[in-house]
Amino acid sequence: MKILVLNGVNLNMLGKRSAAHYGTFTLAELNKKLVEHFAGTDISLDFKQSNHEGEIVEILHRAADFYDAIVLNAGAYTHYSYAIRDAIECAGLSVAEVHLSDISTREQFRKISVLEEVCCVRFYGKKADSYIEAINWLANFHKENKK
Ligand code: DQA
Repeated sequence: MKILVLNGVNLNMLGKRSAAHYGTFTLAELNKKLVEHFAGTDISLDFKQSNHEGEIVEILHRAADFYDAIVLNAGAYTHYSYAIRDAIECAGLSVAEVHLSDISTREQFRKISVLEEVCCVRFYGKKADSYIEAINWLANFHKENKK
């Protein structure tokens, strides 16, 4: 199974952002951890990051040609990008919403996700484990739905 791990705006700055919310690892270290965690399974991971809403939209439009599912951390776009929300619907793939931090206990604006309704599941507040849990969930969902 091929899963795209798509990180959005400001996630290239991991390692320099609030350690309390996001941890001390860089995006490259996070991606390496995920590759190592899923090595030897039938899950193959691909990674993309963009700070540009339109580019994220275009990646989502093309994703079904290459991937079975997507793990998406859209960063701050989560809270207001109807364009990304619509692109998730267009993608026709299972998309898991993830966040490193616990968005339910932070500022009011972070409690709102305009993507939640079009994603099949969401994991947050567990730093790298949010991604690991999302990938496991998508892999199980994919297996169940292939039966
Ligand atoms: C984030 C949470 C967002 O509110 C924030 O804008 C981010 C990262 C997270 O992973 O916790 O950039 O998506």
